[in-house]
Amino acid sequence: MKAIKTNNLVQMLRYTLVLLSLAISSILIQGCSSEEKKAESGSEAESGNLMKDAEEMEDDGLGFGPVKSVTIPAEIDEQLAAEGLKHFEAKCTACHKFAPDKYVGPGLAGVTKRRKPEWIMNMILNPQEMTQRDPVAKGLFETYLTQMTNQNVTEPEARSMYEYFRKMDATNN
Ligand code: HEC
Repeated sequence: MKAIKTNNLVQMLRYTLVLLSLAISSILIQGCSSEEKKAESGSEAESGNLMKDAEEMEDDGLGFGPVKSVTIPAEIDEQLAAEGLKHFEAKCTACHKFAPDKYVGPGLAGVTKRRKPEWIMNMILNPQEMTQRDPVAKGLFETYLTQMTNQNVTEPEARSMYEYFRKMDATNN
């Protein structure tokens, strides 16, 4: 009789231990996931604010992309421009002419007069985000109804194409 009682007691203790550890682990799991949720909603709110800030900011004409600031010397670098022409012919003439008339995309004549160099380079390097967020590029997209494709251009290549455009605009006007 006594032996049975001790057995019962041991079993009860075991049950209590199992229940306790279940309770503790469920508290731990809940704690972790609510921490995660907090972290998630925090970053969501943050990126939401950033987006809002960007939209509310006045358009600085620099566009959206990797190029924040570029220094263009007064003198045209002929060699760089020649390199730019090569890249332009390889990657852009399916949709653009350097002429006033449009093709699949806008005619590029005069582009360096109407846009900042940063904007042009960002358009070349990051066309999707530009047509989504930049007011001018958005407007072009609404007119041309084609998304300019990302042509996997490097930043130095984009810079050389800008030099070619600048040379063309300087000689044509
Ligand atoms: C698939 C066709 C296509 C290709 C390829 C393409 N573009 Fe475009 N481009 C467009 C379209 C269309 C627009 C107008 C914005 C839009 O709808 O995406 C545009 C806009 C531009 C603009 C802005 C023009 C303005 O008037 O402000 C520049 C600059 C430009 N492209 C340069 C380039 C360069 C440089 C290349 C080559 C690396 C290139 N594009 C390749 C279709 C193309």
